[in-house]
Amino acid sequence: MKLVFATHNQNKLKEVQKLLPRQITLLSLDDIGCLKEIPENGATLEENALAKAKYVSKRYALPCFADDTGLLVEALGGAPGVYSARYAGVHKNTDDNLRKLLVELENKTDRTAQFKTVIALIMDNQTTLFTGSVTGSIIGEKRGNAGFGYDPVFRPTGFDKTFAELPLEVKNEIGHRGKAMRALISFLSMRHDVDAV
Ligand code: IMP
Repeated sequence: MKLVFATHNQNKLKEVQKLLPRQITLLSLDDIGCLKEIPENGATLEENALAKAKYVSKRYALPCFADDTGLLVEALGGAPGVYSARYAGVHKNTDDNLRKLLVELENKTDRTAQFKTVIALIMDNQTTLFTGSVTGSIIGEKRGNAGFGYDPVFRPTGFDKTFAELPLEVKNEIGHRGKAMRALISFLSMRHDVDAV
C-alpha cells in the first residue's frame, strides 16, 4: 500500500519510516512532486494536521497522512504549542526558537513540558485523527546531536538524557510521534493487509 506522509521534513520521515510495516510504502511530498510548503495557519494542531492532509488528498488523490507537533510548556501556559515552529518568528529558525525558550524559562522552577503530535489520515474518503504525547522537562542548555527541533532541550520523564542524546529507537518507543504512528498503524491493520506493530 502506498501512503503519502505530507512532510518535507527528512527527520520526521526517518522516524516514521522506521515504524512502518513492510506492506506500506511511504511517499514524501518530494516523492509525489509536491514541492510547495503547505500553509499551517490553524489555531490548533488538529486544524494544521487536517489542512495538510486535505491539501494533498485533494490534489493528488492518494491516501495521505499529515502530522503537526507542538511543545507545550507548563510554566508558559502551554506555549509555544501550535506556534512551536514560529516561536521566535516567521523565519522558523530552530536555534532562535531554542534560545527564546531557554530565556523565557530562565527564572522558572517548573520546567514541565510535553510534546504532542496529532496525525490526520485521509483514506477511502474518511478522515481519522490520532494523537500521541510524552511528558518531560526542559533542561537549561542544549544537549546532544541526534533528533531535531526542540529535542536537545527536552528530557523525557524517567530518563537522564535528552531526546537528542537518546537513540532514535528510544525516541520512537516513548515519544509523541511514535505513539501517534502506532495508533495509525493499528487502525490500518484492522482495515487493510498491514501488520500491527
Ligand atoms: P511541525 O510539526 O513540523 O509543524 O513542527 C513544529 C515545531 O516543533 C518545529 O519547530 C519542529 O522543529 C518542532 N518539532 C516537531 N516535532 C519535533 C520532535 O519530534 N522533536 C523536537 N521538535 C519537534
